[in-house]
Amino acid sequence: MICWGCYPKAVGPVGPEGTRLTWTEMDFAQRKVHMRKEVLPRAAALFGSWRPERFAEVDCSLCHAPGNFEMPTADLPRLSGKLLLGPEFAKHPETTRLKLDRLVPMMAEALGLKPFSVVTRNGFGCYSCHLGPNGPVFKN
Ligand code: HEC
Ligand code: HEC
Repeated sequence: MICWGCYPKAVGPVGPEGTRLTWTEMDFAQRKVHMRKEVLPRAAALFGSWRPERFAEVDCSLCHAPGNFEMPTADLPRLSGKLLLGPEFAKHPETTRLKLDRLVPMMAEALGLKPFSVVTRNGFGCYSCHLGPNGPVFKN
């Protein structure tokens, strides 16, 4: 069945049933391939266009410390856990804008996941990568 408004979307390789897999259905090896093919090039383009000197070369270590692919991760800075990102906008307005307007939509699309909604407090968003002050927040 094809359902365009539904998540997760079938963005991966063809599985044993003959249909494309969703991110959720992919195994670890398939996820690695998907990251290399779909996520890394887009992340490199996005960060590279934002701050070319700092992000001239982007690899998996932008988001993952070596050997640790678990997300969200303590290897990235912790955020406030505030729903509307008040502290983040106050302290890091440019980064927060970039993440909200470009990184989150890009990642959600690449992974075929529903983007975070402030109404349901659920979906792919800041806290899919970052931890809150005391650990994962918003069902991540
Ligand atoms: C822009 C940030 C970013 C980059 C760059 C990135 N990843 Fe990821 N990766 C993520 C996020 C976010 C998740 C978790 C997605 C989810 O399930 O919500 C993830 C999840 C994974 C997982 C799944 C982990 C699990 O427990 O199932 C693997 C494996 C992985 N990444 C490998 C890689 C590899 C290999 C590279 C480089 C080729 C890479 N990633 C580059 C953000 C990134
Ligand atoms: C795909 C993973 C990912 C997502 C989603 C994400 N970030 Fe980030 N964030 C990063 C990475 C990687 C860095 C470190 C690179 C950098 O400085 O931009 C970072 C750094 C930051 C920093 C800098 C913190 C510091 O102390 O320097 C802030 C603030 C931030 N993110 C806020 C956000 C907000 C707000 C959102 C949601 C709107 C968000 N991030 C979503 C990966 C992510």
